[in-house]
Amino acid sequence: MGTICLLSLMLLQVGAPPKDISGTWVANMQTPFGEMELVYRLKVDNGKITGTQTTSFADWPITDGKIEGNQFEFTVEAEFFGNVQKMVVKGEVVGDELRLTPAMPAPPPGLMPGGLGERPPQGPVVMRRGTPTPSFRAPAIDFKTLPKVELPAPKEVPYNGLAKTPPMGWNSWNKFGAKIDDKTVREIADTIVALGMRDAGYVYVNIDDGWQGERDAKGALQPNPHFPDMKALADYVHAKGLKLGIYSSPGPRTCAGFEGSYGHEEIDAKTWAEWGIDYLKYDWCSAMRIWNDDDMPAVYQKMAEALRAAGRPIVYGLCQYGRAKVQEWGPKVSGNLWRSTGDIRDQWDSMAAIGFSQSDLAPYAAPGHWNDPDMLEVGNGGMTPVEYQTHFSLWAMIAAPLLAGNDLRNMPAETKEILLNREVIAVDQDKLGKGGYRIAQQGETEVWAKPLEQGAYAVALFNRGATEVEASVKWSDLKLSGPLKVRDLWAHADRGRMADGFTAKVASHGVVMIRVAR
Ligand code: GLA
Repeated sequence: MGTICLLSLMLLQVGAPPKDISGTWVANMQTPFGEMELVYRLKVDNGKITGTQTTSFADWPITDGKIEGNQFEFTVEAEFFGNVQKMVVKGEVVGDELRLTPAMPAPPPGLMPGGLGERPPQGPVVMRRGTPTPSFRAPAIDFKTLPKVELPAPKEVPYNGLAKTPPMGWNSWNKFGAKIDDKTVREIADTIVALGMRDAGYVYVNIDDGWQGERDAKGALQPNPHFPDMKALADYVHAKGLKLGIYSSPGPRTCAGFEGSYGHEEIDAKTWAEWGIDYLKYDWCSAMRIWNDDDMPAVYQKMAEALRAAGRPIVYGLCQYGRAKVQEWGPKVSGNLWRSTGDIRDQWDSMAAIGFSQSDLAPYAAPGHWNDPDMLEVGNGGMTPVEYQTHFSLWAMIAAPLLAGNDLRNMPAETKEILLNREVIAVDQDKLGKGGYRIAQQGETEVWAKPLEQGAYAVALFNRGATEVEASVKWSDLKLSGPLKVRDLWAHADRGRMADGFTAKVASHGVVMIRVAR
């Protein structure tokens, strides 16, 4: 009976005149990456739908749309760095809502590990009529007619003397995406000081994608209205004993579609130096539509020279997802850190795949030059506290930059305890500057070691499996002999002197991390 009713209701709806869904529809979708605004601007004419789909990443045209009764369907032509994928969106009108699953393409294989395709929305999205948050993304451009920027002949750019230990601080992207503003950045800076994070080493306050506005008559890039005065913001951050970071791309557009530095490298570097910027994350993004991976060293050298000429010490972070063996040439273009993987997501699988893949890169970590397996997700909600401990421990073992990526203003105690574990931070920041590496693996249990100053070692017993295990390290695996003093860095407890090694129970997805010394 119920089924028949539903069927006749559906038939009735389909036969009914099309609902007029012309107008602007807005939803905040939860994605594994965080919250993202989705906007549809639709025009219905005689049952035919046209319009645009807008996310924080791009505006894409809507074609081939039709609506019958309350059922609609249209195609989104999703262009991702020059590759167009046609995606069909189906949905229905329910009262004054649209219920649909939006089109989110995976980037073409090999183009860019991570990125949009790895952040699909979770299930159908409910859209309502509304006003979208203003975006200051730059207009689309025709890459074919862009004048070619000249690349410098290969030359080593001297080390800038910065980042002798892995940079520590905070970055806006993992939590806020491109929805970031002056007020939030100031409040984060206040919080870093108030919680004692600055004193624990977190000094860089880094604005990621989304600060950019338009270029002025002289070609200098201005911030958008979310950042009324960058110099004033830098002064504010500096007065707190912190440093300010910024983001750009060697391409004409950033990954979220804002103005990039293509053809404006010198003037951008000068502007940042004048504002008092201390850190640049330089993200490949649309540069992939202009250059090949082989051109990366020269492209990154160009900005390195511009930063050097600008005369202010600025930490230089290369962000090109670990492509083109960046670890081999990153230091030669005065890179202080280079991304070694695609984008992290706030999920165990993503974090573990990235973190546990870094062992072979250990030889490339050194004072001033670090592998960067992407920013921290600790506290963003997609992993358990135990998993976040593992995340933080693994990053410290790797000697990775520790850039918190959560909303520091609203942190539960368990998140604070992780980010402020000074014993684990000390492993990351050890002045010897060695990367950690895997010394043993059995099933889903991994043992990692990191040489520290004065012949000490950090050892992490990781359990990637679903049930508790017992894991051990033998001193002979570290080419040491006992007895050795053991300190548990999460329990904050001395475990005494051990003759041959150390054994502990490790929770599922957990870690036991120790410091071993004579
Ligand atoms: C890329 C980077 C991210 C972030 C975004 C910003 O995806 O890898 O870390 O900077 O761009 O658009």
